[in-house]
Amino acid sequence: MYQPGLKGVVAVETELSNIDGEEGILTYRGMAIHDIVQNYSFEEAAFYLLHGTFPSEKELQGFQSHLNKYRYMPPYLQQIIDQLPIEQEMMDVLRTAISAVTFYQDDTHDTAIQLIAMMPTIIACRFRHSQNKSFIVPDNNLQHVENFMYMLTENVDSTHVKMLEAYLIMTMEHGLNASTFAARVTKSTQSDIISAITSAIGTMKGPLHGGAPSGVIDLLNEIETKDNIYETIHSKLKNKERIMGFGHRVYKTVDPRAEALKQIILGLENRPEWIELALQTEIATIDMLKKYKPNQQLYTNVEYYAAAIMKSLEIDPNLFTAIFSSSRIVGWCAHAIEQESNNTIFRPAAKYIGK
Ligand code: ACO
Repeated sequence: MYQPGLKGVVAVETELSNIDGEEGILTYRGMAIHDIVQNYSFEEAAFYLLHGTFPSEKELQGFQSHLNKYRYMPPYLQQIIDQLPIEQEMMDVLRTAISAVTFYQDDTHDTAIQLIAMMPTIIACRFRHSQNKSFIVPDNNLQHVENFMYMLTENVDSTHVKMLEAYLIMTMEHGLNASTFAARVTKSTQSDIISAITSAIGTMKGPLHGGAPSGVIDLLNEIETKDNIYETIHSKLKNKERIMGFGHRVYKTVDPRAEALKQIILGLENRPEWIELALQTEIATIDMLKKYKPNQQLYTNVEYYAAAIMKSLEIDPNLFTAIFSSSRIVGWCAHAIEQESNNTIFRPAAKYIGK
């Protein structure tokens, strides 16, 4: 049976996460995402996804020192990044840089940690280069997320780190989304994990997947003030345009990650005006989508409030998809490992409709 976009087709078995799209519940290996974000660090959540259990103190130390070791970019990689044309988008740079990583051991687990550790360094290095700022060397006294903020901004504000860490943990893993599927397809040919992650990055780049948060910022910039909300959304829907940050293939109610991020935002003191604009735009848009698309259940997805968090942290919109990738790489790696352990090459059929 032909299913455009493989909608509803079950293509793998996984122990990594479960999404209840009707109830709006997301669990990693059986634990609600909300509980993981409240109680564990980025490193602990990553270890849990990769290994299946939370680390003991000793295991955590080992994992952290492993990550620390791989934070440093070899000079040849920095040269490649610096030589890429300055107008090249961050996701293109990330795709090229990750594909150029050399793996010294033929061990998928070890290479996974290497890639997870190196991703923030690549992003920060390129970002600062594009801003004519000098590269900030990783600081091994800092945790993974703290160090990422430090390399990007030279600042480590604990509230900012907490917000970013919550977002990164919440977006590590999400079933067989397009980029994860791409990673698994590549790994299913018995290719290596670096090739799998390169495929995933190319897939993540698209505006219907990881490219949505900067689209949300564009939308809110276009709306500008609350008096324009109705007119802007109305004219987009009339022109059959999609409203960025709304709708999800799996969730038929509010995306639990969007809800959790929204709660973080509501807890902020002195919310900026544009956050109020985002909150009001959400209400008005859901209302209008119900009228324009009565047969669809369209609510805010994670990208909508991810954009709000990123803007609160004053992170450049050009970095949004890359930062999202720096968390989703954990899920990509965990899926690549899972695929390797029980592999069948992906080879769906095409229905011929030509002459
Ligand atoms: N705005 C307006 N209409 C929408 C939207 C939207 N954001 N999303 C879906 N629709 C409509 C479509 O136009 C279509 O209407 P029709 O049947 O009248 O033609 C219908 O809903 C179904 O659309 P599909 O693309 O088939 O739905 P699907 O569930 O596959 O789409 C997707 C999921 C791609 C995320 C979609 O909702 C979308 O394009 N959203 C905007 C982009 C976005 O926010 N992406 C981030 C997703 S989250 C993530 O990737 C981490």
